[in-house]
Amino acid sequence: MRKICIIGISGKLGQYMTRHALDRGFEVVGVCRPDSVDKLAHFGNRITVFPGRTNDRSVIREAVRGCDGVLTVLAPWGVEGYASGTAQAVLDFAEPGARLIFSCGWHISRDGQDRYSWKLRAFTAFFGRIARALRFADLDDQVEATRRIFASDTDWTVVRGSDLEEGESEGLPVWARHVGDPLLASNLTRRTDFALFMVHALTDDRLIREAPAIVSRASASAQAHAGRTSLFA
Ligand SMILES: NC(=O)c1ccc[n+]([C@@H]2O[C@H](COP(=O)([O-])OP(=O)(O)OC[C@H]3O[C@@H](n4cnc5c(N)ncnc54)[C@H](OP(=O)(O)O)[C@@H]3O)[C@@H](O)[C@H]2O)c1
Repeated sequence: MRKICIIGISGKLGQYMTRHALDRGFEVVGVCRPDSVDKLAHFGNRITVFPGRTNDRSVIREAVRGCDGVLTVLAPWGVEGYASGTAQAVLDFAEPGARLIFSCGWHISRDGQDRYSWKLRAFTAFFGRIARALRFADLDDQVEATRRIFASDTDWTVVRGSDLEEGESEGLPVWARHVGDPLLASNLTRRTDFALFMVHALTDDRLIREAPAIVSRASASAQAHAGRTSLFA
């Protein structure tokens, strides 16, 4: 892994991923909305930014050229296919054999085997309906985006984040294949560690074509299941 691209680099997750990637010595390029370029000023000339919306196919084509890995923040903004447009552009233009890592939440299910609490189901249904009615966000489009990723024959990983909080790193999160696994019960991860897992996935071939649901390794549920080392990345 030499050069990587971060799609959605100016957001909170994007900036944490940038720090972790630079720490590993990767060359970093990224895409963010033109209005957000200034948020990245503190990285100076350590990164190269391609201003543009993340579903702008011509910008994505340029940005991912020559990259060994692409980290994509999959955000369901608006109601005009932003997340699916972003994912499709990455799938279409990434270099053959590049590692493609996408972020989303636990509500995404790859195989329908996830078991959700009533609270998460109610929140997702409520938020989804309100967000769509206000034309603010479209969770169904994030589902469509991941459907396309799961169906692709690229070397993808879809990292499904729990609830997030800010704070110092607690180390690389642990993961399970399905929400509902007791390992995940604490449902909390530091945002910097979500980013750490995304960057880690670039070089962990065990995560190719997996959709890990992650949780902090310091959480009570992870500690209670610490013996299940096979699930610890
Ligand atoms: N928030 C949570 O609790 C949570 C939980 C689990 C998983 N996740 C996942 O984590 C990832 C990052 O989410 P986050 O909540 O932590 O936010 P974030 O890292 O701040 O990222 C939000 C991204 O969306 C962009 N954005 C904001 N408003 C936009 C708009 N109107 N049109 C287009 N782009 C817009 C931001 O770009 P600008 O810098 O240009 O604004 C930024 O790149 C997502 O994949 C999400 O599904 C989040």
